[in-house]
Amino acid sequence: MKGDYKMYTVTLIPGDGIGPEVTKSMVKVVEATGVNIKWEEVKAGQEVIEEYNTPIPTYVIDSIKKNKVAIKGPITTPIGKGFKSVNVTLRQNLDLYVNLRPIKSFKGIKSRYENIDLVIVRENTEDLYTGIEHKIGDYGAESIKLITKPACERICEFAFKYAMDNNRKKVTGVHKANIMKLSDGLFLNTYREVASKYNIEYDDLIVDAAAMNLVLNPQNYDVMVMPNLYGDILSDLCAGLVGGLGIIPGANIGKEYAVFEAVHGSAPQIANQNIANPTAIIQSSVMMLRYLGEYDAAKKIENALEQVFLKGKNLTIDLGGRALTKEFTEEIIKYI
Ligand code: NAI
Repeated sequence: MKGDYKMYTVTLIPGDGIGPEVTKSMVKVVEATGVNIKWEEVKAGQEVIEEYNTPIPTYVIDSIKKNKVAIKGPITTPIGKGFKSVNVTLRQNLDLYVNLRPIKSFKGIKSRYENIDLVIVRENTEDLYTGIEHKIGDYGAESIKLITKPACERICEFAFKYAMDNNRKKVTGVHKANIMKLSDGLFLNTYREVASKYNIEYDDLIVDAAAMNLVLNPQNYDVMVMPNLYGDILSDLCAGLVGGLGIIPGANIGKEYAVFEAVHGSAPQIANQNIANPTAIIQSSVMMLRYLGEYDAAKKIENALEQVFLKGKNLTIDLGGRALTKEFTEEIIKYI
């Protein structure tokens, strides 16, 4: 069986909190498909801070640069200790300018809506996330929202190309150009310029209206592209529409490298209890397998997840079940 597949080396970052538990489950599921992956495991997060004085030592970046593809568990960013967010560091160092988050309902998972199938394309390198901020004496502080034309162009190009390649029907650009006329105005104008080159329906929406419409009529949306902050917030909102953070995958993609990860964080309250839901990182591995061109293996996992949720046996606690991470993982592997 193994001989049928190409060999890949993928950087594996278990992360901390529930990270090691969910990545272990993901590795078992991916290996059950027969795909031939050598995992190059590198440690990052809380356990390395003392030794390296950073949660993300340079060997992590070097490993990803060598292997080009990585999958990571969540990593805790210590608050108020002067460390830059691990995720922001990775995205900026590797120029992972796209954050792709597919939001899809599974039959069998209880949520407010059925048949949601939309994709958030979030710009990943600038906006309020560049970390350019300064104090104004004791009076206040200022954070710079940086929006550039090249970054708007490449994220909008990605969104339209993704929509065309994946038979999507419509693209929606999300912004707040009515207030931030220069920065979001640049995003909106660039979005419209890019849109005019593609033969696909498109519209645009102010971010506050987008939040309301997504809650009222999420089925009206297909591919949505937006600057960094709006993408961060709306993708969590959308996760809530289909059953929570435990199931939503994500991919950080650049021209040279790609890092796949769950949308959720390290959930320290439930760490080391073997109760975390590994679906999000398993779905991220499905995106990774497609990125590698391993479509059959990706489909096997996707079908197995659909079966598990449809049957509703051995689900994790967040999905209303009582199964441990390990039992849930075994249930998925049974269907592979
Ligand atoms: P969180 O996503 O860790 O937790 C939010 C809620 O969702 C909690 O109730 C948690 O128990 C639940 N949850 C999350 N993932 C789950 C899963 N797989 N199965 C079952 N329940 C799950 O967000 P929070 O609490 O804001 O952040 C905790 C830490 O994670 C912070 O230090 C933050 O910096 C870090 N973080 C890391 C990310 C990453 O590495 N990609 C992303 C977001 C946060």
